[in-house]
Parts: sequence; structure tokens; C-alpha cells
Amino acid sequence: MTRPPDGFGFDAPFDRSGTGSSKWARAGGGAGGVIAMGLADMDLPGPPAVAEALARRAAHRAYGYTACDPAGRELVARWYLERHGAAVDPEWVLLLPFGPRTALRLLLEALRPTGPVLFPTPEWGGFGQLCRAAGLPYEEQALVQEGAGYRLPLEAFAGRRVGAVLLSNPHNPSGRVWTAREIRSLAEAAAGAGAVLVSDEVHGDLTHPGRRHPVAVVAAGGLRAHTVTLNSVGKTFNCSGIPSCFALVPDPALRGRLAELMAGYGLWEGGLVEQLVQQAALREGGPWLDALLRHLTAARDRLTGLLGPAVRSRPEASYLLWVDAVALGLPAVGAGPALLAHCGLEASDGAGFGPGGEGSLRLNYALPGPVLETVSERLRRLG
Ligand SMILES: Cc1ncc(COP(=O)(O)O)c(C=O)c1O
Repeated sequence: MTRPPDGFGFDAPFDRSGTGSSKWARAGGGAGGVIAMGLADMDLPGPPAVAEALARRAAHRAYGYTACDPAGRELVARWYLERHGAAVDPEWVLLLPFGPRTALRLLLEALRPTGPVLFPTPEWGGFGQLCRAAGLPYEEQALVQEGAGYRLPLEAFAGRRVGAVLLSNPHNPSGRVWTAREIRSLAEAAAGAGAVLVSDEVHGDLTHPGRRHPVAVVAAGGLRAHTVTLNSVGKTFNCSGIPSCFALVPDPALRGRLAELMAGYGLWEGGLVEQLVQQAALREGGPWLDALLRHLTAARDRLTGLLGPAVRSRPEASYLLWVDAVALGLPAVGAGPALLAHCGLEASDGAGFGPGGEGSLRLNYALPGPVLETVSERLRRLG
């Protein structure tokens, strides 16, 4: 595969038309010059190693039932050690041939919660959606806005029983990286309330240089049996259209219940394309990810510099910018349509992120260099 001069092509136009992109479908296919900055995937070419592995495998026309390769567990453990300095036991790893949303749903079922599911908001709308679909009672606890960012509402757990605690770590929508101490405190609060902490870390491998991603099952220390970490190569390596993920479940009883539940649904670890993509990404995707993070942090600096105090919490991971719509001169209600009308930029409206989300916008800045240029020009019209 020939490589573009800048290494991986992040500064070249990347046309996704004709690929069935959900993100661009939401933005009307880009009609009228609209730029899609909503749904969380990247308008950047993924790792060549994944494309090469898919092409190699596709050439062999046996696509039958495929066994789970246990080497995948070792690979995940090695990834955590090398990338995050986190010691993960390969035994904890479940290699799942479906996306994080389905994994969360199964985890909630396996946990058999006897109290409400708690999660802080603003938060990715999937948590509430999953609880509603599963018929589970849930409570949204407002994050506390302190200084330049958010703090976890630990006081919400005092003296009560809770069914499960969900957390996006790093935080979606703000890109805040919770510290190891914050994760440990939350795991303690959850365990004290009789609950397991489910840490959704699908944005964790996108932690920006200079910050450290605390992997919850490791940060929880002695409380790891009450903690689950969920991760996927989908967000990190831009391949969410091939749904897969992996869960780190230190508690053998919970692991067993999950495996049993999966078998009941006709789901088994591994998967033909899922583990192929996962292994190629984790084995060979490191240099691509390093280059991607350089591109994303440059884009972050440019946009946070432009938008100044309208940015609610300076992003420390991923490619999402959580901004105060009113500070940008947009209305608190209907900020998304107003941004679209003024600037031709399609963003996620904060109202979809639960209490505390109203009046905010989430902008996805995983864009090629020339498109970032246009976005910056259009944002300058505000204020
Ligand atoms: C925190 C978090 N978890 C899970 C998901 C999505 O998972 P899936 O690819 O299964 O829809 C997202 C997607 O935006 C997310 O931000």
C-alpha cells in the first residue's frame, strides 16, 4: 500500500461519499457545503495494517465459523502494558464480536442490578438509552462544574444501595481524563453502595500525549473484582463499522455469567473479521495512533485557541469539543440547528447528553487539515 507524503494522509482531503457513512447521512450528505461534526467517528484514513489484514484474509474464500484465538488475550494485555503501563491479567479479557453498546447491555443483564443504575451527566446518551431498553431504573447525577472542568458527584452514593455505576472514562462529551484517584474514589463509592463500576473506556486509547489514561480495573486496586473496563478498537482505530470490543472482567464469577449469557444469545468470543481487525490494530497500529494523536492535539489547540472560554472543559483525550453555545452567541435551546444555519456545521446538541447538557454543543474535530481550516473560518463568524 503506497503511503502519502505526510505518513498517514491526515492532511489530505478524505472523501467518504458513497461509503454509507452514518455521520454524513445525519448531516444530509454534506449538501449545501455542510460539514459533519456530530457522530463520533473520524474523517481520517484508518491504519494501513487493518486494511492490509482485511485484504489478505478476504483473498482466502473460506468464511466459515471461526474459533477464538487465545493469543488475542495476550495481545490486549501487552497493549495495556506497553501503551498505558497497566498490568492486565490475560485471564480477565473477554474478546467480544459485537460493539460496546451490546457489551454494556449484556453486562447490565449479567450484573442483575437490584437498585438503580447510576451515571453522571452530561453523558453520552447511550447509557440512558440502554437502561430504558432493558427496563432498568436509572438515576442521572449531575457532574459538578469546578474551575476549568468537571468533578465526579461522589456524594450521590452516601448511605444507599445502587444497582450499577456507569462512567465514560475519558468523559464523553468533554474529553476530560478522570485521574486514577478519582476512579479509585468512584470504585470505592460504588462498592460501598453494593454496585460494580462499569468503566466505558472506548476513548481511553485516544488520551492525548502528556496525560495518562487510568485503566479502571487497575486503578481500582483491591476493588478490581467490583470493577469492569470496556474498550474497543472501534473508536481508536476508526473501525466502528466492524463492531467488536473487549472487556476486562477480573471477577471470575461475573466473567462466567457473561459467557453463559452470550451462549444463550448464540454469541461466542472471537469472530472472523472482529478478531482479525482487533489483532491487526493492536499488533501494528501503534505508529498510526501516535501520528493520529499528534494530528488531533494540533486540531484541539487550534480550536480551543479560537473558541477560548466557550470551551467548557479542555479536552485531554479523543476528538470531542464540549462548548457553551450561549458563549458563542447561539441560543441555549436549539443551539444545534442555529450552528447549522449560521455556519453550515452539523454538531451534536447538548440536550441529548442528559441533565446539564442543555445549552451545549459537542463538536467532533477528527477532520483532515483542509477541512479544519474551513471549520475555523466558519466559527470565526460567531460571537
Ligand atoms: C462512551 C461511549 N461508549 C460506547 C459508544 C458506542 O458504542 P457502539 O459503537 O457500540 O455504538 C460510544 C460512541 O460514541 C461512546 O462514546
